[in-house]
Amino acid sequence: MFQPDLLKDRAIFLTGGGSGLGRSMAIHFAKLGARLFVVGRREEPLKATCDEIHRDGGAAAFATCDVRDYAAVETAFAAAELQFGEIDTLVNNAAGNFMARTEKLSSNAFNAVVGIVLNGTFHCTQAFAKRRIEKKLGGNILNITTTYAAANCGSGYVVPSACAKAGVLAMTTSLAVEWAKYHIRVNAIAPGPFPTEGAWSRLIPSKQFEEHAISKIPMKRFGKHEELTNLAAFLLSDMAEYINGECVVIDGSQWLRGAGEFNDLGLLPDAVWEQLEAVRPKK
Ligand code: HXC
Ligand code: NAP
Repeated sequence: MFQPDLLKDRAIFLTGGGSGLGRSMAIHFAKLGARLFVVGRREEPLKATCDEIHRDGGAAAFATCDVRDYAAVETAFAAAELQFGEIDTLVNNAAGNFMARTEKLSSNAFNAVVGIVLNGTFHCTQAFAKRRIEKKLGGNILNITTTYAAANCGSGYVVPSACAKAGVLAMTTSLAVEWAKYHIRVNAIAPGPFPTEGAWSRLIPSKQFEEHAISKIPMKRFGKHEELTNLAAFLLSDMAEYINGECVVIDGSQWLRGAGEFNDLGLLPDAVWEQLEAVRPKK
């Protein structure tokens, strides 16, 4: 569907590029001609993503960086600029999430998720945009949210994520207006369930959970990574130049069927929660 050079000459800073949807987007964007700078906390998966891009003849580099740490984000941007010159595109994809009963959460647990999703997105967004604005260059930002981030929705059992993703959505729409004059577009994608190790291990941890999740999707299947990466490439491309402040849902109409993705966890008896909590890895 796309020209092979759709993203040619782009230099993209993408968070969480070592795994899951971030890895799939990085590889896809590189195939469309972009140069990728991927960040995350763990070196090994980032290196693996870059190795795969290099094997395909693309350009990629990485830095380890915890997006909760503003200084670390600044350092990573400096490294990205050293590597590729100007960075013209940002994809805020890194996230943290888990299911839990909210009354049992520690404040540290809440902060861990909000720190990654909301503060991390702000850190990268500001580090990116201030450079573009100072140099009078436009840019593109794409935020990966969730369907339960939408106003008047949220979801029980993933409250830190719901709060943080709603904040990211507000950041998306707010900055689309504020920074339009700088030619910086800000859009979002709200995916339904797409199989990834990171999401599945924390949110869909058994066949039973998986069957339940599929049963709620009118199309009766999960998303395919290429469906999301194609949408992301389109939104970042010049073909979408007049789309600004939009959040595109990609979920096989799951969201329309019933908001609040994890609300059915209310069906779990306490004994099952206790079993789940007993086996989760603890530091
Ligand atoms: C309750 C939990 C918990 C859980 C961790 N904590 N897991 N509390 N239930 N399942 C608590 C810890 O006990 C600790 O609190 C605090 O959270 C911080 O935990 P750490 O392990 O020290 O934090 P950290 O190493 O920074 O890890 C962050 C994380 C982790 C968010 C907790 O899960 C992570 O690294 N996630 C990254 C990848 C990820 O989550 N991917 C899924 C994205 S899917 P105390 O008080 O004990 O110190 C997604 C949307 C999917 O976002 C929606 C559709 C399917
Ligand atoms: P994933 O593989 O777990 O991706 C999360 C990525 O974020 C990891 O690569 C992780 O790398 C990185 N990350 C986490 N904390 C970080 C931190 N503090 N600093 C820097 N990087 C950090 O899960 P995924 O399913 O692909 O999720 C990708 C995005 O899609 C997320 O925004 C998620 O909310 C969204 N989403 C996913 C689904 C789904 O069904 N998969 C549905 C809706 C929305 P490190 O651990 O190495 O840091």
